[in-house]
Amino acid sequence: MDKIKVIGEQTLSGKIYISGAKNSAVALIPAAILSDKAVIDRVPNISDVKSLREIMEYLGVETRVSDGKMFVDATNIENRDITKEYSTKLRASYYFMGALLAKFKKVVISLPGGCSIGKRSFDFHLNGFEKLGAKVTVNEDIYTIEADKLVGADIHLPFPSVGATVNIMLAAIFAEGVTTIDNAAFEPEIGNVIDFLNSAGANIVGKDTSKLTITGVKELSGGNIRVIPDRIEAGTYILAGVMNGKNLEICDICPEHLTSFFEKLKEMGADFEIKGDTVITNKVAHLKPVNIETAAYPGFATDLQQPITTLLLMADGVSTLKETIYENRFQNTKYLNEMGAHIEITGDTITVYGPTKLNGKVVKTSDLRAGAALILAALSAHGETTITDIKHLLRGYSNLIQKLTNVGAKIWLEEE
Ligand code: EPU
Repeated sequence: MDKIKVIGEQTLSGKIYISGAKNSAVALIPAAILSDKAVIDRVPNISDVKSLREIMEYLGVETRVSDGKMFVDATNIENRDITKEYSTKLRASYYFMGALLAKFKKVVISLPGGCSIGKRSFDFHLNGFEKLGAKVTVNEDIYTIEADKLVGADIHLPFPSVGATVNIMLAAIFAEGVTTIDNAAFEPEIGNVIDFLNSAGANIVGKDTSKLTITGVKELSGGNIRVIPDRIEAGTYILAGVMNGKNLEICDICPEHLTSFFEKLKEMGADFEIKGDTVITNKVAHLKPVNIETAAYPGFATDLQQPITTLLLMADGVSTLKETIYENRFQNTKYLNEMGAHIEITGDTITVYGPTKLNGKVVKTSDLRAGAALILAALSAHGETTITDIKHLLRGYSNLIQKLTNVGAKIWLEEE
Protein backbone atom coordinates (compact mmCIF):
# COMPACT_ATOMS: atom_id res chain seq x y z
CA MET A 1 0.00 0.00 0.00
CA ASP A 2 1.22 3.54 -0.78
CA LYS A 3 3.02 5.57 1.90
CA ILE A 4 3.76 9.21 2.46
CA LYS A 5 7.26 10.15 3.56
CA VAL A 6 8.14 13.45 5.19
CA ILE A 7 11.42 14.99 6.30
CA GLY A 8 10.40 17.42 9.02
CA GLU A 9 11.57 20.78 10.34
CA GLN A 10 11.37 22.58 6.98
CA THR A 11 10.16 26.17 6.98
CA LEU A 12 6.92 26.56 5.06
CA SER A 13 6.35 29.74 3.10
CA GLY A 14 4.31 30.77 0.11
CA LYS A 15 0.64 30.23 -0.59
CA ILE A 16 -1.70 27.28 -0.14
CA TYR A 17 -5.04 27.54 -1.91
CA ILE A 18 -7.93 25.83 -0.17
CA SER A 19 -10.20 23.49 -2.15
CA GLY A 20 -13.95 23.04 -2.00
CA ALA A 21 -15.30 21.51 1.21
CA LYS A 22 -15.42 17.71 1.28
CA ASN A 23 -18.50 17.63 3.48
CA SER A 24 -20.38 19.97 1.12
CA ALA A 25 -19.33 18.19 -2.05
CA VAL A 26 -20.27 14.75 -0.71
CA ALA A 27 -23.80 15.98 0.00
CA LEU A 28 -24.15 18.11 -3.14
CA ILE A 29 -23.33 15.24 -5.51
CA PRO A 30 -26.11 12.89 -4.30
CA ALA A 31 -28.44 15.93 -4.01
CA ALA A 32 -27.77 16.68 -7.68
CA ILE A 33 -29.82 13.64 -8.78
CA LEU A 34 -32.92 15.59 -7.70
CA SER A 35 -32.24 18.22 -10.35
CA ASP A 36 -32.18 16.73 -13.85
CA LYS A 37 -29.11 18.77 -14.73
CA ALA A 38 -26.74 20.48 -12.33
CA VAL A 39 -23.36 22.20 -12.18
CA ILE A 40 -21.19 22.00 -9.06
CA ASP A 41 -18.17 24.27 -9.11
CA ARG A 42 -14.94 23.91 -7.08
CA VAL A 43 -15.30 20.15 -6.56
CA PRO A 44 -12.32 18.88 -4.53
CA ASN A 45 -9.96 16.29 -5.98
CA ILE A 46 -10.50 13.64 -3.30
CA SER A 47 -11.29 9.95 -3.38
CA ASP A 48 -14.69 10.44 -1.68
CA VAL A 49 -15.80 12.40 -4.75
CA LYS A 50 -14.46 9.63 -6.99
CA SER A 51 -16.44 7.04 -5.00
CA LEU A 52 -19.64 9.09 -5.33
CA ARG A 53 -19.11 9.46 -9.07
CA GLU A 54 -18.89 5.66 -9.30
CA ILE A 55 -22.26 5.37 -7.54
CA MET A 56 -23.73 8.01 -9.86
CA GLU A 57 -22.46 6.13 -12.90
CA TYR A 58 -23.90 2.87 -11.52
CA LEU A 59 -27.27 4.65 -11.25
CA GLY A 60 -27.02 5.85 -14.84
CA VAL A 61 -26.22 9.46 -13.91
CA GLU A 62 -23.55 11.12 -16.03
CA THR A 63 -20.91 13.20 -14.26
CA ARG A 64 -18.14 15.05 -16.05
CA VAL A 65 -15.47 17.13 -14.37
CA SER A 66 -13.66 19.88 -16.17
CA ASP A 67 -11.59 22.64 -14.53
CA GLY A 68 -12.95 21.72 -11.11
CA LYS A 69 -16.58 21.98 -12.33
CA MET A 70 -18.78 18.93 -12.17
CA PHE A 71 -21.58 18.68 -14.72
CA VAL A 72 -24.30 16.26 -13.67
CA ASP A 73 -26.94 14.86 -15.99
CA ALA A 74 -29.51 12.69 -14.19
CA THR A 75 -32.05 12.45 -17.01
CA ASN A 76 -31.44 8.69 -17.47
CA ILE A 77 -31.25 7.77 -13.78
CA GLU A 78 -32.38 4.26 -12.75
CA ASN A 79 -33.20 3.27 -9.19
CA ARG A 80 -30.79 0.39 -8.59
CA ASP A 81 -29.95 -1.19 -5.23
CA ILE A 82 -26.76 0.37 -3.83
CA THR A 83 -24.76 -2.67 -2.84
CA LYS A 84 -22.05 -2.76 -0.20
CA GLU A 85 -19.22 -2.56 -2.73
CA TYR A 86 -20.48 1.00 -3.35
CA SER A 87 -21.96 2.05 -0.01
CA THR A 88 -19.04 1.08 2.23
CA LYS A 89 -16.53 3.26 0.42
CA LEU A 90 -17.69 6.36 2.28
CA ARG A 91 -20.07 7.67 4.90
CA ALA A 92 -21.85 10.03 2.56
CA SER A 93 -23.22 7.18 0.46
CA TYR A 94 -26.13 7.46 2.90
CA TYR A 95 -27.24 10.69 1.25
CA PHE A 96 -28.59 8.47 -1.53
CA MET A 97 -31.17 7.33 1.04
CA GLY A 98 -32.81 10.75 1.18
CA ALA A 99 -32.22 11.57 -2.48
CA LEU A 100 -33.51 8.28 -3.98
CA LEU A 101 -36.40 8.17 -1.54
CA ALA A 102 -37.46 11.65 -2.69
CA LYS A 103 -37.03 10.79 -6.36
CA PHE A 104 -38.43 7.21 -6.52
CA LYS A 105 -40.18 6.72 -3.14
CA LYS A 106 -37.95 3.71 -2.67
CA VAL A 107 -34.31 3.02 -1.93
CA VAL A 108 -32.39 -0.16 -1.16
CA ILE A 109 -28.91 0.47 0.19
CA SER A 110 -26.27 -1.35 2.23
CA LEU A 111 -24.76 0.04 5.42
CA PRO A 112 -22.56 3.09 4.70
CA GLY A 113 -18.79 3.18 5.39
CA GLY A 114 -16.59 6.05 6.54
CA CYS A 115 -14.02 6.61 9.26
CA SER A 116 -14.23 4.29 12.24
CA ILE A 117 -14.35 6.98 14.94
CA GLY A 118 -17.39 5.99 16.96
CA LYS A 119 -20.84 4.42 16.80
CA ARG A 120 -22.04 6.79 14.07
CA SER A 121 -25.65 5.62 14.15
CA PHE A 122 -28.15 7.01 11.67
CA ASP A 123 -31.35 6.35 13.61
CA PHE A 124 -32.34 10.05 13.38
CA HIS A 125 -32.26 9.82 9.59
CA LEU A 126 -34.46 6.71 9.57
CA ASN A 127 -36.88 8.16 12.15
CA GLY A 128 -37.15 11.27 9.99
CA PHE A 129 -37.96 9.22 6.87
CA GLU A 130 -40.61 7.34 8.85
CA LYS A 131 -42.17 10.62 10.00
CA LEU A 132 -42.47 11.59 6.34
CA GLY A 133 -44.43 8.38 5.75
CA ALA A 134 -41.74 5.89 4.74
CA LYS A 135 -41.39 2.33 5.98
CA VAL A 136 -37.90 1.17 6.90
CA THR A 137 -36.88 -2.49 6.95
CA VAL A 138 -33.41 -3.84 7.67
CA ASN A 139 -32.18 -7.24 6.59
CA GLU A 140 -28.53 -8.16 7.14
CA ASP A 141 -27.26 -4.57 6.87
CA ILE A 142 -29.41 -3.86 3.81
CA TYR A 143 -31.86 -1.00 4.33
CA THR A 144 -35.07 -0.82 2.34
CA ILE A 145 -36.87 2.49 2.71
CA GLU A 146 -40.09 2.97 0.79
CA ALA A 147 -43.28 5.00 0.80
CA ASP A 148 -46.52 5.19 -1.16
CA LYS A 149 -46.26 8.91 -0.76
CA LEU A 150 -44.20 11.28 1.37
CA VAL A 151 -46.09 13.88 3.38
CA GLY A 152 -44.54 16.85 5.21
CA ALA A 153 -44.11 16.47 8.98
CA ASP A 154 -42.63 18.26 12.00
CA ILE A 155 -39.38 16.56 12.89
CA HIS A 156 -37.32 17.22 16.00
CA LEU A 157 -33.72 15.98 16.02
CA PRO A 158 -32.46 14.73 19.42
CA PHE A 159 -29.02 16.14 18.43
CA PRO A 160 -28.14 18.56 15.62
CA SER A 161 -26.77 15.87 13.34
CA VAL A 162 -25.27 17.07 10.07
CA GLY A 163 -26.15 13.89 8.19
CA ALA A 164 -29.71 13.65 9.51
CA THR A 165 -30.42 17.31 8.71
CA VAL A 166 -29.27 16.93 5.11
CA ASN A 167 -30.83 13.51 4.53
CA ILE A 168 -34.26 14.47 5.89
CA MET A 169 -34.16 17.73 3.95
CA LEU A 170 -33.44 15.77 0.74
CA ALA A 171 -36.26 13.31 1.44
CA ALA A 172 -38.70 16.19 2.04
CA ILE A 173 -37.99 18.12 -1.16
CA PHE A 174 -40.95 16.68 -3.10
CA ALA A 175 -43.09 15.72 -0.09
CA GLU A 176 -46.67 16.94 -0.02
CA GLY A 177 -47.01 20.03 2.19
CA VAL A 178 -44.56 21.44 4.71
CA THR A 179 -41.77 19.73 6.66
CA THR A 180 -40.00 21.37 9.56
CA ILE A 181 -36.73 20.16 11.06
CA ASP A 182 -36.04 21.57 14.44
CA ASN A 183 -32.78 21.35 16.40
CA ALA A 184 -31.29 21.08 12.90
CA ALA A 185 -27.53 21.31 12.43
CA PHE A 186 -26.39 24.51 10.72
CA GLU A 187 -22.84 23.76 9.69
CA PRO A 188 -21.89 25.96 6.69
CA GLU A 189 -21.88 22.88 4.43
CA ILE A 190 -25.62 22.49 5.07
CA GLY A 191 -26.20 26.09 4.00
CA ASN A 192 -24.29 25.29 0.81
CA VAL A 193 -26.63 22.36 0.08
CA ILE A 194 -29.68 24.55 0.79
CA ASP A 195 -28.41 27.19 -1.65
CA PHE A 196 -27.95 24.51 -4.29
CA LEU A 197 -31.40 22.98 -3.83
CA ASN A 198 -33.06 26.41 -3.82
CA SER A 199 -31.14 27.34 -7.00
CA ALA A 200 -32.85 24.34 -8.63
CA GLY A 201 -36.33 25.40 -7.46
CA ALA A 202 -36.64 23.94 -3.96
CA ASN A 203 -38.35 25.92 -1.22
CA ILE A 204 -36.19 25.72 1.91
CA VAL A 205 -36.21 28.48 4.50
CA GLY A 206 -34.04 28.80 7.61
CA LYS A 207 -30.48 28.53 6.27
CA ASP A 208 -27.88 29.05 9.03
CA THR A 209 -30.47 28.51 11.76
CA SER A 210 -31.56 25.51 13.81
CA LYS A 211 -35.03 25.39 12.22
CA LEU A 212 -35.57 24.50 8.60
CA THR A 213 -38.88 24.72 6.78
CA ILE A 214 -39.16 22.78 3.56
CA THR A 215 -42.23 23.26 1.41
CA GLY A 216 -42.55 20.43 -1.08
CA VAL A 217 -42.23 21.29 -4.78
CA LYS A 218 -43.08 19.26 -7.90
CA GLU A 219 -39.65 19.17 -9.54
CA LEU A 220 -36.12 20.59 -9.55
CA SER A 221 -33.99 21.56 -12.51
CA GLY A 222 -30.82 23.39 -13.42
CA GLY A 223 -29.16 23.52 -9.99
CA ASN A 224 -25.97 25.54 -9.81
CA ILE A 225 -23.58 26.00 -6.91
CA ARG A 226 -19.98 26.78 -5.96
CA VAL A 227 -18.73 24.57 -3.14
CA ILE A 228 -17.68 26.63 -0.10
CA PRO A 229 -14.01 26.49 0.95
CA ASP A 230 -13.10 23.52 3.14
CA ARG A 231 -12.83 24.94 6.66
CA ILE A 232 -11.19 21.77 7.97
CA GLU A 233 -8.55 21.71 5.25
CA ALA A 234 -7.98 25.43 5.93
CA GLY A 235 -7.62 24.80 9.67
CA THR A 236 -5.16 21.97 9.02
CA TYR A 237 -2.85 24.16 6.91
CA ILE A 238 -3.20 27.09 9.30
CA LEU A 239 -1.91 24.74 12.01
CA ALA A 240 1.01 23.79 9.74
CA GLY A 241 1.80 27.50 9.41
CA VAL A 242 1.55 28.20 13.12
CA MET A 243 3.98 25.32 13.72
CA ASN A 244 6.40 25.76 10.82
CA GLY A 245 5.44 28.81 8.78
CA LYS A 246 7.24 31.95 7.73
CA ASN A 247 4.61 34.12 6.11
CA LEU A 248 2.72 31.02 5.02
CA GLU A 249 -0.51 32.23 3.42
CA ILE A 250 -3.63 30.09 3.47
CA CYS A 251 -5.79 31.52 0.70
CA ASP A 252 -9.42 31.32 -0.46
CA ILE A 253 -10.90 30.59 2.94
CA CYS A 254 -14.07 31.76 4.72
CA PRO A 255 -12.69 33.08 8.05
CA GLU A 256 -16.19 33.35 9.56
CA HIS A 257 -16.49 29.55 9.40
CA LEU A 258 -13.47 29.16 11.68
CA THR A 259 -14.35 31.53 14.54
CA SER A 260 -14.06 29.00 17.40
CA PHE A 261 -10.81 27.68 15.98
CA PHE A 262 -9.29 31.16 15.73
CA GLU A 263 -10.35 31.92 19.32
CA LYS A 264 -8.29 28.96 20.55
CA LEU A 265 -5.27 29.89 18.41
CA LYS A 266 -5.45 33.41 19.84
CA GLU A 267 -5.65 32.09 23.39
CA MET A 268 -2.51 30.04 22.68
CA GLY A 269 -0.66 33.13 21.45
CA ALA A 270 -0.27 31.83 17.89
CA ASP A 271 0.90 34.25 15.22
CA PHE A 272 -1.77 34.56 12.54
CA GLU A 273 -3.40 37.45 10.75
CA ILE A 274 -6.68 37.35 8.86
CA LYS A 275 -6.74 39.55 5.75
CA GLY A 276 -9.95 39.13 3.77
CA ASP A 277 -10.06 35.52 2.61
CA THR A 278 -6.42 34.83 3.49
CA VAL A 279 -4.71 33.92 6.76
CA ILE A 280 -1.01 34.67 7.14
CA THR A 281 0.76 32.45 9.64
CA ASN A 282 4.17 32.41 11.33
CA LYS A 283 5.84 30.08 13.77
CA VAL A 284 6.31 31.47 17.28
CA ALA A 285 8.81 30.34 19.93
CA HIS A 286 6.26 29.86 22.71
CA LEU A 287 2.62 28.83 22.85
CA LYS A 288 0.30 28.72 25.85
CA PRO A 289 -1.63 25.56 26.77
CA VAL A 290 -5.44 25.63 26.42
CA ASN A 291 -8.54 23.60 27.18
CA ILE A 292 -10.77 22.71 24.24
CA GLU A 293 -14.14 21.02 23.99
CA THR A 294 -15.63 19.99 20.66
CA ALA A 295 -19.25 20.88 19.82
CA ALA A 296 -21.64 21.14 16.92
CA TYR A 297 -21.20 24.29 14.79
CA PRO A 298 -20.48 27.08 15.68
CA GLY A 299 -18.52 25.34 18.45
CA PHE A 300 -15.03 23.93 18.05
CA ALA A 301 -15.21 21.43 15.16
CA THR A 302 -14.56 17.80 16.04
CA ASP A 303 -12.85 17.47 12.65
CA LEU A 304 -10.11 19.85 13.87
CA GLN A 305 -9.71 18.11 17.21
CA GLN A 306 -7.08 15.62 16.07
CA PRO A 307 -5.13 18.15 13.96
CA ILE A 308 -4.96 20.69 16.82
CA THR A 309 -3.72 17.99 19.22
CA THR A 310 -0.41 18.16 17.35
CA LEU A 311 -0.21 21.91 18.04
CA LEU A 312 -1.00 21.37 21.74
CA LEU A 313 2.17 19.26 21.88
CA MET A 314 4.17 22.44 21.23
CA ALA A 315 2.57 24.45 24.08
CA ASP A 316 4.48 25.25 27.29
CA GLY A 317 2.36 23.25 29.73
CA VAL A 318 -0.64 20.98 30.07
CA SER A 319 -3.64 21.23 27.73
CA THR A 320 -6.86 19.24 27.72
CA LEU A 321 -9.15 18.33 24.89
CA LYS A 322 -12.63 16.93 25.35
CA GLU A 323 -14.28 15.13 22.42
CA THR A 324 -18.06 15.34 22.75
CA ILE A 325 -19.19 14.14 19.29
CA TYR A 326 -17.45 10.80 18.71
CA GLU A 327 -16.51 8.00 21.12
CA ASN A 328 -13.33 6.88 19.37
CA ARG A 329 -11.56 9.86 17.88
CA PHE A 330 -8.21 9.66 19.67
CA GLN A 331 -6.50 6.99 17.58
CA ASN A 332 -3.87 9.52 16.51
CA THR A 333 -2.54 9.80 20.08
CA LYS A 334 -0.96 6.32 20.04
CA TYR A 335 1.26 7.30 17.11
CA LEU A 336 1.97 10.79 18.42
CA ASN A 337 3.17 9.15 21.65
CA GLU A 338 5.42 6.86 19.62
CA MET A 339 6.90 10.00 18.05
CA GLY A 340 7.75 11.36 21.51
CA ALA A 341 4.54 12.97 22.75
CA HIS A 342 3.05 12.49 26.18
CA ILE A 343 -0.73 12.27 25.81
CA GLU A 344 -3.02 10.49 28.24
CA ILE A 345 -6.60 9.45 27.48
CA THR A 346 -9.23 9.51 30.24
CA GLY A 347 -12.71 8.72 28.92
CA ASP A 348 -13.72 11.45 26.48
CA THR A 349 -10.77 13.71 27.32
CA ILE A 350 -7.09 13.73 26.51
CA THR A 351 -4.40 15.49 28.50
CA VAL A 352 -1.50 16.74 26.44
CA TYR A 353 1.77 17.46 28.21
CA GLY A 354 3.87 20.02 26.34
CA PRO A 355 6.31 21.05 25.12
CA THR A 356 7.41 18.03 23.11
CA LYS A 357 10.20 17.35 20.69
CA LEU A 358 8.89 14.93 18.07
CA ASN A 359 11.03 12.40 16.23
CA GLY A 360 10.27 10.84 12.86
CA LYS A 361 8.85 7.28 13.01
CA VAL A 362 6.76 4.86 10.99
CA VAL A 363 3.15 5.66 11.86
CA LYS A 364 -0.24 4.54 10.59
CA THR A 365 -3.28 6.54 9.57
CA SER A 366 -6.36 5.13 11.34
CA ASP A 367 -8.85 7.69 10.02
CA LEU A 368 -8.91 10.87 7.96
CA ARG A 369 -8.25 13.52 10.61
CA ALA A 370 -5.84 11.28 12.51
CA GLY A 371 -3.90 11.27 9.25
CA ALA A 372 -3.92 15.08 9.20
CA ALA A 373 -2.62 15.11 12.78
CA LEU A 374 0.23 12.80 11.76
CA ILE A 375 1.12 14.88 8.69
CA LEU A 376 1.36 17.94 10.97
CA ALA A 377 3.50 15.98 13.42
CA ALA A 378 5.75 14.74 10.62
CA LEU A 379 6.26 18.30 9.32
CA SER A 380 7.51 19.35 12.78
CA ALA A 381 9.44 16.20 13.71
CA HIS A 382 13.16 15.73 13.60
CA GLY A 383 14.10 13.30 10.83
CA GLU A 384 12.01 11.16 8.53
CA THR A 385 8.44 10.02 9.17
CA THR A 386 6.69 7.34 7.12
CA ILE A 387 2.90 7.46 7.14
CA THR A 388 1.14 4.27 6.09
CA ASP A 389 -2.52 3.52 5.26
CA ILE A 390 -2.85 6.86 3.52
CA LYS A 391 -6.11 5.95 1.77
CA HIS A 392 -7.93 7.68 4.65
CA LEU A 393 -6.04 10.93 4.00
CA LEU A 394 -6.71 10.86 0.27
CA ARG A 395 -10.43 10.70 1.00
CA GLY A 396 -10.44 14.25 2.28
CA TYR A 397 -7.36 16.30 1.38
CA SER A 398 -7.18 17.53 -2.20
CA ASN A 399 -3.66 17.45 -3.74
CA LEU A 400 -2.09 17.28 -0.27
CA ILE A 401 1.46 16.43 -1.36
CA GLN A 402 1.48 19.02 -4.13
CA LYS A 403 0.15 21.78 -1.89
CA LEU A 404 2.74 21.12 0.82
CA THR A 405 5.63 20.65 -1.64
CA ASN A 406 4.80 24.04 -3.20
CA VAL A 407 5.45 25.78 0.14
CA GLY A 408 8.73 24.05 0.92
CA ALA A 409 7.79 20.81 2.69
CA LYS A 410 9.87 17.72 1.96
CA ILE A 411 7.04 15.29 1.39
CA TRP A 412 6.55 12.61 -1.22
CA LEU A 413 4.48 9.57 -2.11
CA GLU A 414 6.10 6.17 -2.19
CA GLU A 415 4.10 3.79 -4.32
CA GLU A 416 4.23 0.06 -3.73
N1 EPU B 1 -25.80 10.52 15.64
C1 EPU B 1 -26.71 9.60 16.13
N2 EPU B 1 -27.77 9.26 15.32
C2 EPU B 1 -27.93 9.77 14.09
C3 EPU B 1 -27.01 10.70 13.60
C4 EPU B 1 -25.94 11.06 14.39
O1 EPU B 1 -26.58 9.12 17.25
O2 EPU B 1 -28.89 9.40 13.42
C5 EPU B 1 -24.64 10.89 16.46
C6 EPU B 1 -23.36 10.34 15.83
O3 EPU B 1 -23.09 9.02 16.27
C7 EPU B 1 -22.33 11.33 16.32
C8 EPU B 1 -23.11 12.65 16.40
O4 EPU B 1 -24.49 12.29 16.44
O5 EPU B 1 -21.92 10.98 17.61
C9 EPU B 1 -22.86 13.62 15.27
O6 EPU B 1 -23.04 13.01 14.05
P1 EPU B 1 -23.43 13.78 12.71
O7 EPU B 1 -24.62 13.11 12.15
O8 EPU B 1 -23.49 15.25 12.93
O9 EPU B 1 -22.16 13.44 11.81
P2 EPU B 1 -22.14 12.91 10.35
O10 EPU B 1 -23.19 13.55 9.54
O11 EPU B 1 -22.03 11.41 10.34
C10 EPU B 1 -20.60 14.82 9.44
C11 EPU B 1 -19.27 14.84 8.75
C12 EPU B 1 -18.18 14.48 9.73
C13 EPU B 1 -18.23 15.46 10.90
C14 EPU B 1 -19.63 15.49 11.53
C15 EPU B 1 -19.77 16.53 12.62
C16 EPU B 1 -19.87 14.22 6.51
C17 EPU B 1 -19.83 13.21 5.43
N3 EPU B 1 -19.29 13.90 7.66
O12 EPU B 1 -20.73 13.47 9.89
O13 EPU B 1 -16.97 14.62 9.06
O14 EPU B 1 -17.30 15.06 11.87
O15 EPU B 1 -20.60 15.75 10.51
O16 EPU B 1 -19.44 17.77 12.15
O17 EPU B 1 -20.38 15.32 6.34
C18 EPU B 1 -14.69 14.28 8.64
O18 EPU B 1 -14.80 15.08 7.70
O19 EPU B 1 -13.58 13.85 9.06
C19 EPU B 1 -15.90 13.81 9.30
C20 EPU B 1 -15.93 12.75 10.09
